[in-house]
Amino acid sequence: MSESHGQSSGPRHVALIMDGNGRWAAKKQLPRLHGHHAGAETLRDIVRACPDLDIRFLTVFAFSTENWRRTPEEVGGLMTLMRLYSESEVKQLRENGVQVRFIGDLTKLERGLAKKLENLAIKTKGGDRLQLTVAVNYGGRAEITHAFQRLASRIANGELTPEEVCESCLRDNLMTTHLPDPDLIVRTGGDIRVSNFLLWQSAYSELEFVDTLWPDFTPHQFQSIVNRYPERSRRFGANGD
Ligand code: FPP
Repeated sequence: MSESHGQSSGPRHVALIMDGNGRWAAKKQLPRLHGHHAGAETLRDIVRACPDLDIRFLTVFAFSTENWRRTPEEVGGLMTLMRLYSESEVKQLRENGVQVRFIGDLTKLERGLAKKLENLAIKTKGGDRLQLTVAVNYGGRAEITHAFQRLASRIANGELTPEEVCESCLRDNLMTTHLPDPDLIVRTGGDIRVSNFLLWQSAYSELEFVDTLWPDFTPHQFQSIVNRYPERSRRFGANGD
């Protein structure tokens, strides 16, 4: 269960599905990659806004296991964007107390990029204002499958019996052991679905869907969503939830 800190306070952990970059670019008759570049700038603004909103954990979906199906040009462009930002943002992130971590299977990335992302995580270690978790080559089903594989090998080794498999041991084998469950998940871009993001962790999350395309999403809009959060009733199954 989420470590939510009560109905009257704001969300401690917010997760974002940053959708709409491609449509934003198409509306301006620009290549899709321009949309991703603009989207990365929006992410920078939202990260900056988090500490003042008392958000301690921000988790963002940057590249899904399904995104490999896009054209090689777009995939390559997204990888280049991550490479550039993993270098250019280090100083700002450190100064602002942001610790960056990655979830997802980084072994499928080009080795140089994976190394840069690992370096960013190392260089920002100890940041104590915001934990920014970036999901790269991440899929919720793959994550749960991987957790099952780890438990199955412990059963095969005789370290665990099938009866001992429980929710908390599954949770302890997910990639998010450093995080409480998200209190709030926000998706931009108008679609109403979770697209394989944090499937286990979102069991009790509040969901917010907005039509704004991600590059047009503003800290002000983010703030009003966050400010509305305490009005939502979170009963975790009690009293008819
Ligand atoms: C979805 O929009 C967005 C993505 C697949 C990529 C998200 C990445 C960023 C915002 C940049 C992140 C950068 C860093 C440095 C972490 P879409 O392309 O699916 O848009 P569409 O639905 O309009 O086609």
